[in-house]
Amino acid sequence: MKAIFCSHYASPEQLKIKEVSTPVPAKHEVLVKIHATAINDYDWGMVRGKPFLYRLIFGLTKPKRPIAGMELSGVIEDIGEDVTKFKKGDAVYGDISEFGFGSFADYIAINEKALVLKPEDMSFEDATAIPHAALLAYQGLVEKGKIQKGQKILINGAGGGVGTFALQIAKMYDAEVTGVDTGEKLNNMKAIGYDEIIDYKKENFTIRGERYDLILDAKTSQPTWAYLKALKPKGKYVTVGGTAGNLILFGLSSGLLSVLTSKKFLLLALQPNQGLDTINQLYTEGKIKPTIDGPYKFEEIPRLIQYFGEGKHTGKVVINLSK
Ligand SMILES: NC(=O)c1ccc[n+]([C@@H]2O[C@H](COP(=O)([O-])OP(=O)(O)OC[C@H]3O[C@@H](n4cnc5c(N)ncnc54)[C@H](OP(=O)(O)O)[C@@H]3O)[C@@H](O)[C@H]2O)c1
Repeated sequence: MKAIFCSHYASPEQLKIKEVSTPVPAKHEVLVKIHATAINDYDWGMVRGKPFLYRLIFGLTKPKRPIAGMELSGVIEDIGEDVTKFKKGDAVYGDISEFGFGSFADYIAINEKALVLKPEDMSFEDATAIPHAALLAYQGLVEKGKIQKGQKILINGAGGGVGTFALQIAKMYDAEVTGVDTGEKLNNMKAIGYDEIIDYKKENFTIRGERYDLILDAKTSQPTWAYLKALKPKGKYVTVGGTAGNLILFGLSSGLLSVLTSKKFLLLALQPNQGLDTINQLYTEGKIKPTIDGPYKFEEIPRLIQYFGEGKHTGKVVINLSK
């Protein structure tokens, strides 16, 4: 099978397509023929070995697993002897990051727990765009943020994967939603329904005098205390990710700020694939639809990882392996 092979840490554009042997599923694994995959922050970090902290997970001097990719949709072609959840021919999708990486390839053998059944009315391209970003948005807004009807909400990093799902979830609660991002994405953000848009390169939303009931942050671009000014009394701030420095500051200061003020500062640790049944339902009812950048061809993955890392995409960057 063909795979995007990462033998050493380097710029994504140096990645090569290589012929490798098709894996054989172990007892609890299924062999999936991959139909579509997507690019994520982990891929950008994993192939470059940056930030350095990632090397503690991915390998100190070179990647332990030479194939990146953590979201996929596809069809099960073979199953291990102890597999109970699926049968050959099932169409599946999922965020596989809890069990490994390797979706930038024709096939993957992965623990059955990493996958769920794909609804029939969901395309393979939509399915691969959903698990990671939709659940960061859902778990962030609904489970951590306890979003309420009619709230005033701000999404920081609003044009990316998480933001474009978060907008749709917030709109189900009739929220008034402001999105913060930059560049060409701002036009797309208007088109998909943000009520107000702020270009973070021109304006700092924390000091413009507006206050929000709930802030969902995919970037944590400022120190924790900066957000105090942008929250209403009893407002909540939920971060799903961002720069290591600001996340460390967040870890050190969020507890204290939550105790000393009437505002809450919360960090989401994603539970991969937890809640996909709800997302499937919302998709089938037409309430949620991924914003897809692409679909692109398999050969383009190295270029696309760079494109993703430079933040040029809107929504989810999707690759269709049969293109
Ligand atoms: N909590 C968890 O358990 C968990 C697990 C996995 C991943 N994550 C994190 O979840 C996040 C995933 O977000 P995503 O998929 O939506 O990423 P994404 O698609 O890269 O979107 C992030 C957006 O933020 C924009 N941005 C960059 N700097 C900004 C700033 N200073 N202010 C406002 N916006 C800014 C980017 O645009 P430009 O780059 O063009 O500026 C981009 O459009 C990542 O931070 C990832 O590390 C969390």
